[in-house]
Amino acid sequence: MYNKLMLLLGAGFLFTACASENGEDQTPDEVPTPTCNTADVTYALTVAPLLQKNCTSCHNNNFASGGVNLSTYAATRTVALNGRLIGSVNHDAGYSPMPKGGAKLADCDITQLRKWVTDGAANN
Ligand code: HEC
Repeated sequence: MYNKLMLLLGAGFLFTACASENGEDQTPDEVPTPTCNTADVTYALTVAPLLQKNCTSCHNNNFASGGVNLSTYAATRTVALNGRLIGSVNHDAGYSPMPKGGAKLADCDITQLRKWVTDGAANN
């Protein structure tokens, strides 16, 4: 959160400096859209809350739909490393699209999940 704020403040400062330099009026749609933060992706602060919000109602210790449990680190790691986690949320061919019956996750959520997986799905 703090990092995101600093990023926004930093971007705002650059934007202001640039605008006064060339003396042009800038319209709001020229403000750059904040990028997806993939620098601080961790299991505890990013992945687990995301799965709890969107997935664990159907994938938990008592009720593991499709044999998939997303409520513990160890079980999530298995699905991450065998490719099914990203395949399903990215709606890749050959995987059951997830979350089942719901809207596809936001692009940034998928990007952050993928980053965690490609970094080795660590318990961080
Ligand atoms: C409403 C219940 C429900 C929700 C919510 C849900 N799933 Fe599923 N999931 C299922 C069911 C049921 C299956 C078994 C396969 C099928 O029926 O499509 C499944 C299967 C899977 C599989 C195996 C798919 C495959 O093709 O190998 C993965 C991985 C998975 N879910 C991940 C997720 C993730 C990640 C989320 C959250 C973003 C999620 N699920 C949300 C019900 C759900």
